[in-house]
Amino acid sequence: MNTQAPAVHDNGPEGVYLRGSGAVREWWRVSLSERAHMFRIEHGHGAAGSGAVDIDTVVDLDNLEAKLLKWRREGFVSEAGREDEARAVAAGSRFAVELQRAVELEREAREARAANRSVPPEAAHIGSVAMSPAPQSTPPALVPRVNDAYLFTARADDIALDIVENRRVMLIGHTGSGKTSFIEQVAARTGHGVLRANMNGQTTIGDFVGFWTVKGGETVWVDGVLPVAMREGYWLIIDELDFAEPSILAVLTAVLEPNGRLLLKERGNEIVEPHPSFRLFATANAAGAMSAYRHLYQGANLLNEAFLDRWRVYLFDYLSKEEEAEVLVRTLPSLTPAIAQTLAAIAADCRAAFAREDLASTFSTRRLIDWAELMLRTGDVERAAGPAIYAKVSAEDAALIRSIIRHHAIFDAGDGVSG
Ligand SMILES: Nc1ncnc2c1ncn2[C@@H]1O[C@H](COP(=O)(O)OP(=O)(O)OP(=O)(O)O)[C@@H](O)[C@H]1O
Ligand SMILES: [Mg+2]
Repeated sequence: MNTQAPAVHDNGPEGVYLRGSGAVREWWRVSLSERAHMFRIEHGHGAAGSGAVDIDTVVDLDNLEAKLLKWRREGFVSEAGREDEARAVAAGSRFAVELQRAVELEREAREARAANRSVPPEAAHIGSVAMSPAPQSTPPALVPRVNDAYLFTARADDIALDIVENRRVMLIGHTGSGKTSFIEQVAARTGHGVLRANMNGQTTIGDFVGFWTVKGGETVWVDGVLPVAMREGYWLIIDELDFAEPSILAVLTAVLEPNGRLLLKERGNEIVEPHPSFRLFATANAAGAMSAYRHLYQGANLLNEAFLDRWRVYLFDYLSKEEEAEVLVRTLPSLTPAIAQTLAAIAADCRAAFAREDLASTFSTRRLIDWAELMLRTGDVERAAGPAIYAKVSAEDAALIRSIIRHHAIFDAGDGVSG
């Protein structure tokens, strides 16, 4: 080998260039020629170095550069390039292995923390997460009633852990998908008192933070819902947060930090420390990933990313057909599984029509349960659909929903009419 040959690239163009694999594997090999400034190129099939070489020639650098370009266009990749690729794949799986190890470590740490926290025997379980009950002082009137029909789906575990870890949780999704009731049902099972504030026109900054008023000739301060929840350790659900006025969002931002404190400027800068049981939740229909539906929720504001980043945001889809049928039977035990399945299928079809924009209105679990309840009272599918569905939507939507219902009712009655 001629060691005087110039190094034309950092690594030089020498090496094997490959295309295909196995029997159709084809290669070019570039090496330094005996002649100065020249390169030997060889071509063959199969494994480089074994088998017949059908081209063996010597070219100068310009010629070689042109060939390298041509080979690249023809799909040849240098062996080094292939090794890089293989290394990237290996790195990917190495990352997955590392991540798995980190997950194990985190799980052990979490279990150790839970053991230290000494979760009492009366802990409630949400999914697989053990949650401590609320302090004894919680007024029972503020604890929501347990709804035995409530179905915790796969998403419950993550959110329950966030609550244990005192994260701020925002649930977004269409109306009636179970956002508010999820938080209420976790609170109900753990005995936490819940306060709610709806941001859609009803809550002023005074209601939220507090205000001065005159009582019996004396000026007194009245805490708003936020400081009450923070001082007493209640869970606060801020519903329809995407309708909140900017002054409320500004106050919230400070409280969103873990253990964030509230500064009551109106009260001479009094600082309100969060009680260890205090938790903050929000629900929204059209924030974040739901922004595409803002036309359905008129007046909803875009929440900016910096604000959203202070929350764990969960997108609540409607329940699956099977889950919804189960919820129906659990909520209305007189309903037979067959009826529940048909109703859940109708709801799913209406939602699919909504997704295709054939329907302007969606179909909530709340609406479905209400319709089923009326159906049980009247024994009449159409009559029940009047107040539960048709009267709430446009005439065109009502007509399409009616045809979806007919279609299912006919099929499932098994009366032989095909539609
Ligand atoms: N997983 C579930 N298990 C049982 N019932 C459910 C479930 N999800 C929703 N529901 C039923 O649907 C009703 C409406 O749910 P919820 O009020 O939580 O909806 P939401 O998402 O907060 O709606 P909105 O955006 O209109 O406030 C609940 O009262 C409950 O009856
Ligand atoms: Mg709600």
